[in-house]
Amino acid sequence: MNSLPDSRPAATPQRFDLYGPIHKALRLAMNDAVRQLGRADPEDAGELHAALAQAEGLLALARSHLEHENRFVHPQLEARVVGSCAALGTEHAEHVEAIEALHDQIDDLRAAPAAERAQRMHLLYRRMAVFCAESQLHMEREESEHTTALWRACSDEELLGLDRRIQAQLPPAEMQAWLRWIAGSAPVPFLAAMLTDMRGALPPQALDPVIGLVRSELDERRWRRLCARLCLAPDAVALPG
Ligand SMILES: [Fe+2]
Repeated sequence: MNSLPDSRPAATPQRFDLYGPIHKALRLAMNDAVRQLGRADPEDAGELHAALAQAEGLLALARSHLEHENRFVHPQLEARVVGSCAALGTEHAEHVEAIEALHDQIDDLRAAPAAERAQRMHLLYRRMAVFCAESQLHMEREESEHTTALWRACSDEELLGLDRRIQAQLPPAEMQAWLRWIAGSAPVPFLAAMLTDMRGALPPQALDPVIGLVRSELDERRWRRLCARLCLAPDAVALPG
């Protein structure tokens, strides 16, 4: 698995959308992490630790995502429009502090006596919900004001190059995590275009696990619609073991 699809829909006059698909994935990951924290029974060790592990996974993705923006996106725009990324950069620094505080809260909950877990869990749920709400407002600014600035300053080819450089340095485990949330948050035509791109780049033994991972995030109707677009038999690819 070494590439995600171009975000620009084929044969449309739209500009390349650097943020759209990955932010959809991140919103779903955030919403699901909050949901799991909210419904986990603190007296059920399995549920509790699964929800905490999912929360840590989300925090890792959120931090990695903002670091990609800091490292790849902001320098390119700042080089052309000085000061254009200052406010978002400040928010990123605040998000890193919030992420570290949430990690500490999770560690403290794990180490807490059983009698304190329910209260600590509810506080963690609320704090995570606030972090996700603030992050989603930030993402909205990126998808509106910041995207307009990017489109003015950069060509689609330059934005596509940024996207490819970000993807090329993702570790395989992180790529799989993103793929899971993309599969759950993107429309079937986008997923079909993504997998068609991958078909051209990967041998079947590498592609089949990717399709299986996507399948695991789709209901039967969406899976069949995807198969139809890929000219694939619905039982041709197994779910992950
Ligand atoms: Fe950001």
